[in-house]
Amino acid sequence: MEGFRITGGERIEGRVRLEGAKNAVLPILAASILPQGDVVIRDCPDIRDVHAMAGILSRLGCRCRWQAGEMTVCNQGLHNWEMPDALSKQIRSSIFLLGPILARMRRATVTYPGGCDIGLRPIDLHLKGLRALGVVIVDDGGILYCDGRNMHPGDVYFDYPSVGATENVMMAAALLPGVTTIHNAAREPEIADLQRFINGMGGCIRGAGTQVIEIQGVQRLEGITYAPISDRIGAGTLLCAGAITGGTVELTNACPWDLLPVTEKLREMGCTIRTEGELMLLEAKERLSAFSRLQTQPHPGFPTDMQAQMLACASVAHGTSVIVENVFENRFAQAADLTRMGANILVSGRMAVVQGVDALHGARVCARDLRGGAALVLAGLAAQGETVVENAALVDRGYAHLEDTLSSLGAKIQRIQL
Ligand code: EPZ
Repeated sequence: MEGFRITGGERIEGRVRLEGAKNAVLPILAASILPQGDVVIRDCPDIRDVHAMAGILSRLGCRCRWQAGEMTVCNQGLHNWEMPDALSKQIRSSIFLLGPILARMRRATVTYPGGCDIGLRPIDLHLKGLRALGVVIVDDGGILYCDGRNMHPGDVYFDYPSVGATENVMMAAALLPGVTTIHNAAREPEIADLQRFINGMGGCIRGAGTQVIEIQGVQRLEGITYAPISDRIGAGTLLCAGAITGGTVELTNACPWDLLPVTEKLREMGCTIRTEGELMLLEAKERLSAFSRLQTQPHPGFPTDMQAQMLACASVAHGTSVIVENVFENRFAQAADLTRMGANILVSGRMAVVQGVDALHGARVCARDLRGGAALVLAGLAAQGETVVENAALVDRGYAHLEDTLSSLGAKIQRIQL
């Protein structure tokens, strides 16, 4: 197993160019089986989830080539509509392939992608959306046999604005002649990026970013070379690295509007944040102040993927902060490890009450999920002494060479074998 060894106390200072957003690239990779032609994704992050998704595409018959930050997908050999258990359970995002597979081959066999440490991760909304388009889905002991021979456009209403379910229906309907409308759609920036991607291939989708998305199915989509939006969660994580160490961080290709909930909270904690176009500059003061309350919500609310990082910042802030996690049912796992580092956190159900301490101390801790692992790295940057974060592979799912990025900003961090 690999881990990170961090010697805390260094200010994080410097300039970073962000990579493409993990949560934009994963659905875009799934949508890469839709066109008659190759897809080239620029600024593709070198992360485990991207390579896992490419591996699944290969098993379906596509050819995926990774070269210097670009992923090329050739779907000419697409022939397999089955995603056996081993593949489906590799990553949660495998479920994003259900819509595109049905769009191209009108049938699919998948298994439940399984939950992960942050929650059960059901797929009932995905299945509800596809059934509204005429897909017949039979659940035989966890294996889902999907028959799309009679697929038709339709109206889909989501009880909850699920990101993945919204994306799945957008992709399933993209080649379905007629108008499909999604009501109570997710509004995350990555949804708008998927719309731009599909429309760039000749699709006709509008409304992404609002609660109503209209998909006019077309006969054919063409290949494309596409640069996805930059990673707003990666950006927020680096801003938190500056904030928690009293440093200065400049991001050169950020989307400030997509980060507004995060930057507002960091300003509340006493950071100065200036933006100009895609440039963002954070300057932290000596010690952070507690924010009064943080509640995660679907976009444009505070992003759940930044909750763990803010929990780490609150751990060393002056005062008491309250965090309510409204999106996932189990996303405070890293609180136990932060407590081992000296944090004072009370977790009760979906609420965490954090009494900031003057300083954390280094400890040996373990990443339990992607963003919780990133939060432990942030805590290690601020802690006195040495911290070892086990299970770096979980962090590598969503951050490309995090230790290199942080080292370039002055951190004392290295990847180690444990
Ligand atoms: C996407 O997951 C992201 N992943 C997650 O990022 C992110 O946390 C999440 O959206 C919320 O923003 C990718 O885009 C690859 P949801 P997704 O469907 O699509 C419930 C990260 O760290 N739900 O919006 O799975 C679900 O249980 C990851 O980068 C159902 O009940 O999120 C959860 O409570 C973590 N039924 C809530 O909705 C369903 O059919 C939000 O889930 C689907 C979801």
